[in-house]
Amino acid sequence: MKDNIYLDVLNFENLEKVRIWRNENTGKGILRTPYPLTTDMQQKFFDDVINNRNSNSRYWGIFLKTYDNDDHLIHVFIGYTGLDKIEWENGIAEIGLMISHEYIGLGYGSKALSLVLNEAFNNMRLQNIYGECYKCNPNIEFWEKMIEKYKGYKTTLPARKYFDGSFFDSMYFNFNYYNFRI
Ligand SMILES: CC(C)(COP(=O)(O)OP(=O)(O)OC[C@H]1O[C@@H](n2cnc3c(N)ncnc32)[C@H](O)[C@@H]1OP(=O)(O)O)[C@@H](O)C(=O)NCCC(=O)NCCS
Repeated sequence: MKDNIYLDVLNFENLEKVRIWRNENTGKGILRTPYPLTTDMQQKFFDDVINNRNSNSRYWGIFLKTYDNDDHLIHVFIGYTGLDKIEWENGIAEIGLMISHEYIGLGYGSKALSLVLNEAFNNMRLQNIYGECYKCNPNIEFWEKMIEKYKGYKTTLPARKYFDGSFFDSMYFNFNYYNFRI
């Protein structure tokens, strides 16, 4: 089932779904941007970043090939992933990943991560993909497991997130091309 996942273009219709998912997750200490986004904000992000071939970010939709009740093959948009703040000269970028709540816990996040790392290392000639997960994010164990899987490394940055009246540390992590290959 996990092999039925693929990355493809993130169009505005799907980016609107991302906006709803993100808005559902505001106020939970997960996202860097702690307030809900409007459709206009999302449209601007689409125009400035996703639809701009010169931006320093690349985003993809995560799609699942599956069958409907009539046994017809369907393609379902289940999440998005992105490489942001790309520094071409230094070969680095920051990862973003979100799976729709209906599809969480089924192995799709792990598979999507392998696909985006493959894009980064084997198609975009990047060397290091880093990320930051706040220690108040209930999904931090996902990243702990992925760091172990890809022989990544991590460190703690103090007081990186203000949430619910307190500062929380973050786990800052990195996946390196050479360790991904072996
Ligand atoms: C984090 C996220 C991408 C994980 O996706 P997912 O599809 O649920 O993850 P998977 O099913 O592929 O899980 C892979 C492994 O991580 C573990 N894992 C995933 N989420 C976990 C959680 N919340 N707590 C404990 N373990 C977790 C799984 O048990 C699995 O372990 P296994 O390989 O030993 O079986 C998804 O929960 C999500 O999009 N959350 C909201 C947004 C978010 O937190 N993004 C990251 C911001 S830094």
